[in-house]
Amino acid sequence: MSTRAIDAGLIDELTGIVGAAHVLQDPEMTAGYSIDWTRRFAGATPLVIRPGDTAETAAVMSSLAAARVPVVPQGGNTGLVGGSVPLAGEAVLSTRRLNVCEPVDELASQVTLGAGVTLADAQAHAASSGLSVGVDLAARDSATIGGMVATNAGGINVLRYGAMRAQVVGIEAVLADGTVVSHLAGLEKDNTGYDLGSLLAGSEGTLGIITQVRLRLHPTQPERATALLAFETAADAVSAAAVLRRSVASLHALEAVFEGAMALVSRHLGVAPPVGSLGDESHRSPAGDRAWLIAEAAARSDPSDELGAAVEEVDDLVVDAAVALDPAARQRLWAFRENVTEAISAAGIPHKLDVTLPAARLAEFVDGVPDVVRATDPDAQPLLFGHLGDGNVHVNVLGPGGAEPADEVDDAVLRYVAELGGSISAEHGIGTAKLAQLHLNRSKAELAAFGAIKRALDPVGLLNPNVLLP
Ligand code: FAD
Ligand code: MLT
Ligand code: ZN
Repeated sequence: MSTRAIDAGLIDELTGIVGAAHVLQDPEMTAGYSIDWTRRFAGATPLVIRPGDTAETAAVMSSLAAARVPVVPQGGNTGLVGGSVPLAGEAVLSTRRLNVCEPVDELASQVTLGAGVTLADAQAHAASSGLSVGVDLAARDSATIGGMVATNAGGINVLRYGAMRAQVVGIEAVLADGTVVSHLAGLEKDNTGYDLGSLLAGSEGTLGIITQVRLRLHPTQPERATALLAFETAADAVSAAAVLRRSVASLHALEAVFEGAMALVSRHLGVAPPVGSLGDESHRSPAGDRAWLIAEAAARSDPSDELGAAVEEVDDLVVDAAVALDPAARQRLWAFRENVTEAISAAGIPHKLDVTLPAARLAEFVDGVPDVVRATDPDAQPLLFGHLGDGNVHVNVLGPGGAEPADEVDDAVLRYVAELGGSISAEHGIGTAKLAQLHLNRSKAELAAFGAIKRALDPVGLLNPNVLLP
């Protein structure tokens, strides 16, 4: 692609559209847009543009398209696969100023939100009408609704409400040439052709810039009970998870932390887990690492009896259990799961391998993957946690002293996942991190179809040109 230089004429044009305060060129001002949350992916950009509404976004894209300037769309920059930062000198289009929340449509239980609204703001906005957003994740204060749709984010409530794609009932986006496509009526039944919302969900900024999203909302479930369960083996945790899934109708979250990650987060928090014990550093029983589950039930009326009965059902598998009902006590249990990501990043720069396994292979994978990692990089430390209720394991790998592990680790783990019939990306996407492995899950015919869709909507290849499509 021949790119016109970002010259004074283009800067004048962009400044005329969004105002001088929102065209950033000073490296000190653009630095924060050029490095990802994990610090693994860092680049540089000549230009950050921050439009304030859809019309400005369309005009900006039209100018950038005329100048053939490639663009990385960026929301909260909490993505974990290197897809939100300019690694090849692209411009960055930040959506953070697209932050208008329309009034909640209480008759339809829906809301239209600007792409730059943070999840936390969306949650507070929905809660003011007694409703809730179906997706929740620990990056809620920064992650944006547009970024969450673009990555089809998962989080802790997928087993109840589905991932972000399942929340989308309407979408507005700006295509690479500046065309606006808008379908925001939010009709539950609407079979009028291709579903652009579904297509843009998981497109990782490669097909269009999402400017507004209409979300389906859910009734709040204010009564909660949370259990932390300790297990001697991953296999026991997986068996118990299956029972909890079928016995607890109000199951809201079912999360796992395996031994290495539990040891790290406990050290980070300065608190030992209230149930179960951590082995010493050399602990690895022949049966594999110990495991903890967090099971949360949520309903309109107290779900503690339902959760308690299910915990009794798995009594023979559980080493020890703690149940909490009041918010502060529940939060103390959740801390051992919610702070794992932060604890790992405080320890170094991990490689994050976010995978799904079929239920029948989950325990085998959890027990087997440390050996796969160490066979590739003997000094690397695998740390496992994730959304066990969805079969989703986060394999984070740190090198010695917190350095990055060998790149070959990624390939070895992802090949192992594919061999067991799993997905190499459960919820974070492909980004730039997993480009080389996408073929493990997608056939040549599928990749050709991806390419055809990309060329139809972005023929010049301006939108996130180095992401998702190998
Ligand atoms: P960004 O990081 O800015 O961008 C992510 C991708 O989307 C990029 O490819 C970007 O180009 C594209 N994009 C962003 N906005 C738009 C837009 N408006 N239009 C088109 N493309 C766009 N993820 C999960 O799925 N589940 C979790 O449980 C989870 N927990 C997390 C916890 C922590 C502590 C952190 C740091 C991250 C976590 N994530 C999780 C990852 C991350 O929060 C999600 O991927 C989130 O959806 C990214 O939103 P964002 O606004 O930060 O997007
Ligand atoms: C999580 O579930 O905590 C997130 O997906 C973040 C991570 O993988 O570190
Ligand atoms: Zn996750």
